[in-house]
Amino acid sequence: MKAKIIANKNFCISEIDNRIYGSFLEHIGRVIYEGIYEPSHPCADDMGFRQDILDFVKKLALPIVRYPGGNFVSAYNWEDGTGEKTKRPRKFESAWQSIETNQVGIDELQEWARRAGSEIMLAVNLGTRGPQEAQNLVEYCNLETDTYYANLRCQNGFKEPFHIKTWCLGNEMGGLGQIGRKTADDYGKIALETAKHMKRADPTIELAVSGSSHVNMPNYGKWDLTVLDYTYPFIEYLSIHQYYGKNGSTEEYFAKPLELSEYIRSAVAMCDSIKAIQKSDKTVHIAFDEWNVWGNSDLINFPKGQVAPHIGEASYTFEDALVVGMMLITFQNHSDRVKIACLAQLVNAIAPIMAEKNGKSWVQTIFYPYLYASLYGRGTAMRPVIECDSYKTREHSCVPYMEASVIHDEAVKTVTVFAVNRSLDEDIGLTIELEGIGNCELFEHIELFSDNLSTVNSPENQAVTPQNRECASSEILLKKHSWNMIRYRY
Ligand code: AHR
Repeated sequence: MKAKIIANKNFCISEIDNRIYGSFLEHIGRVIYEGIYEPSHPCADDMGFRQDILDFVKKLALPIVRYPGGNFVSAYNWEDGTGEKTKRPRKFESAWQSIETNQVGIDELQEWARRAGSEIMLAVNLGTRGPQEAQNLVEYCNLETDTYYANLRCQNGFKEPFHIKTWCLGNEMGGLGQIGRKTADDYGKIALETAKHMKRADPTIELAVSGSSHVNMPNYGKWDLTVLDYTYPFIEYLSIHQYYGKNGSTEEYFAKPLELSEYIRSAVAMCDSIKAIQKSDKTVHIAFDEWNVWGNSDLINFPKGQVAPHIGEASYTFEDALVVGMMLITFQNHSDRVKIACLAQLVNAIAPIMAEKNGKSWVQTIFYPYLYASLYGRGTAMRPVIECDSYKTREHSCVPYMEASVIHDEAVKTVTVFAVNRSLDEDIGLTIELEGIGNCELFEHIELFSDNLSTVNSPENQAVTPQNRECASSEILLKKHSWNMIRYRY
């Protein structure tokens, strides 16, 4: 099969906000404890952070990390995770029905993020708490005033404020299982008051209002329009979430990124319709601050009443990696409106990086498309014209065999093409025409491929790893069901 990509330097989607390569650290399962933090591990640093995990995270050049939840935040008292560690309360936490030792809180996380070279997107609890506690947290993190919470941070050893810029007004507040779940009106009102309070304390912060938890919410759309209408003048982002699972054939699974694209378009339309109704000159963007494929994990029947239980420890197949690769391409191709996206999550629970207790760390198949997108998907997303055949599924009348994005990085004079061949049995002979860029030389072709779509990585065997391919002089070979990164310099 043949395919063609034409891209012209002058036809661009947008400059990419690097924060679309963000991730997520929730207090769930072994993400924090036995994940990023394990003081007794041989690789632990002076604060108990695992260096081997930090090394993987540094490789990813992680731009932003959402914290501390997720469902967890909806019953969380942020004060519990600050100050002298021996005095912190050990509590039952209701979101994941675990024991929370509070040995990691915002004090530690901001230090972890600093060591990882990342920034934090901090969520406030709007499930069991409200505007005042959220404003106190802003004061604690960001202010230098001679006031109670700012002074408390200094007493806890942090004279310099944490300067946290991006904040979430709760998490999935319309979600069925959310603690303190609200109607759209009730949430809209509390989110508005909280936003005002937080911005009075620090007018430089940016806020994300909690939109749809997923596209199949019973009140999907109405929820978003209502909460946007309440909060529009005070927010910068609509936060939306989506996980995709394989619940049919591979062909159908491979079509999920088209649904993602449609979901983003609808979310943008909802933001823009409230903009029009309110006659606002501000544009609200999308923070897709939880996304992933769900894998084979179970977030219902998990162990209860434990510290750091094994929750959601999915093992990801090669086929999952292709879907993740296509979702990243989708975010790049919507970079005019998606400014933040967080792969949920980073370590152990539905995660690209795995950490064994007191043992080694390793990466899942999905790590690789994420790594390369984050490293080489920076710059300006060009608007590619794609010519290729398509197939049909029960739900989609036209699924192109190839999904692709083209990123121009003027600073380092490169153009990077990310391309996935969806076909289960045919290779693609790809021609790429780059216009307006001068003489381009193809200098790198990296491929992720396995004959068997079900292949997984394990601590013993990194069965799926990227391979360097010879650079083609004319047609580029995209193997059947493969992910590819093709780079040009000029
Ligand atoms: O990432 C796991 C959970 O999925 C999060 O806590 C919640 O926000 C989402 O539904």
